[in-house]
Amino acid sequence: MKPTFYVTTPIYYVNGAPHVGHAYTTIAADVMARWKRLDGYDVFFLTGTDEHGQKVEKAAADAGMPPQLFVDGISAQFQAMTARMGSSNDAFIRTTEERHKVTCSALWERVAEAGDIYLGGYEGWYAIRDEAFYGADELVDSPGGKLAPTGAPVEWVTEPSYFFRLAAWQERLLAFYEANPDFLAPSSTRNEVLSFVRGGLTDLSISRTSFTWGIPVPGDPAHVMYVWFDALTNYITALGYPAKDADLWRFWPADLHLVGKEIARFHMVFWPAFLMSAGIAPPRRVFANGWLTIEGEKMSKSVGNVIDPMALADELGLDAVRFYLMREVPFGNDGNYSRRALIGRMNTELANDLGNLAQRSLSLLAKNCDGKLPPVGPTTEDDAALRAMAAALPDALRARLDRQAIGDGIEEVWKVIRAGNSYIDKQAPWALRKTDIDRMGSVLRVLADVLRVAATVLQPVMPDSMAAMLDQLGVPPDRRLLADLATALPDGTVLPAPQGVFPRHVEATA
Ligand code: MSP
Repeated sequence: MKPTFYVTTPIYYVNGAPHVGHAYTTIAADVMARWKRLDGYDVFFLTGTDEHGQKVEKAAADAGMPPQLFVDGISAQFQAMTARMGSSNDAFIRTTEERHKVTCSALWERVAEAGDIYLGGYEGWYAIRDEAFYGADELVDSPGGKLAPTGAPVEWVTEPSYFFRLAAWQERLLAFYEANPDFLAPSSTRNEVLSFVRGGLTDLSISRTSFTWGIPVPGDPAHVMYVWFDALTNYITALGYPAKDADLWRFWPADLHLVGKEIARFHMVFWPAFLMSAGIAPPRRVFANGWLTIEGEKMSKSVGNVIDPMALADELGLDAVRFYLMREVPFGNDGNYSRRALIGRMNTELANDLGNLAQRSLSLLAKNCDGKLPPVGPTTEDDAALRAMAAALPDALRARLDRQAIGDGIEEVWKVIRAGNSYIDKQAPWALRKTDIDRMGSVLRVLADVLRVAATVLQPVMPDSMAAMLDQLGVPPDRRLLADLATALPDGTVLPAPQGVFPRHVEATA
């Protein structure tokens, strides 16, 4: 039986259209899902939309629409974005689905039975934009009033509320982090979360009574569940909880929740506490990605610099966008999106480095080897060195991607591609054609084999272009897993006519 791997994105709020920041996490999760499938895992990849709460209710009211109609429209936009980004998600969950209400109610009841829920009253600060409660000591003064540390405006809230006994979970959470050192990542986020929990926890308000757009609390429908209790539960709804005999339950605990760093606390503190209270195993790892700025500025509607990832993919090609986003910023760090840098990487790394190496090798094979894969010839030191670098790629990527160091993994492949370019220049197969036709064949065979490895391991990042490259290298579609690299392609494999995979992009001048 294959080992399982369950990876998720955050479920996105449907208060506005999707932008490149959402696409960023979705693409990263997709790369992880595709990588694990390539490595022989049985993968479940979940994404979706977070549709309840005050923020979404307010956005619907501002649009003059009934909330359900409003969320249906925006969720559809997120589904379209997900598909256009090439996401291979196995399911798309919406928190307004009936099955989610069932799961949330079941989780609530289990936590209540464990004695971790009590009725009280909340009096304090709330930021609708963050859907988060803040202590007075966390706020900063500004000319317009008090602000949350995220810059979100806060309002004073006084209402009856159910509470989760989070304070009582402090020691158990710390023991859990201690016993599971991979749970909190990367280390910057880990340190923040540890110091937050060590600083002492207060009980968490988990219901609201001042609005109605949410899931009713079991037995007390005057309350709706706090939107984060509702939202986090999506990860188990999708697997069929509470029906533990559900087929998909075998994917729990999740192997990887990918989240933006601003929502690390919810996933790293509240979520494992809710789960442990209900007797459910916590996820294995939560990894927080950094924030993307746009040409050096925070992305915002008022600045007018919001990037639509679908328009970008239409214009420059999906794989170039995916490659750029995964390559440019070390995953986990903050980073910047710049159009110039994207086009720079398209032209240098994709068109020049990889595209040219493939095009040069494949067109020589087409012209001089009858479009067939030549046999492996006597191996020189240079051949062996390049082959060894390529053979080390699966392990090198595994080591990096298991830590979500996606950009580092890509760099390992580029080391081989750069070495491949030096090799072809040095061996000069175009000259060997006249002097030593057998050696020319051997050189081209080394290049074809090395390109096959590079294209195989790059499939998770650039699925369409690497599929095209593997087609041209004569690799059958059912022989494209990492495990298949152990078996050489038969000599004489017919290679289809080569076609450039990566176009260069020239900016139109105004
Ligand atoms: N609905 C909550 C998540 C609930 S998960 C149980 C939420 N939604 S959100 O729509 O605000 O999406 C936030 C996520 O989108 C971030 O955590 C991050 O993954 C991604 N990003 C949104 N803007 C981003 C950037 N500018 N840069 C990088 N990622 C960004 O929070």
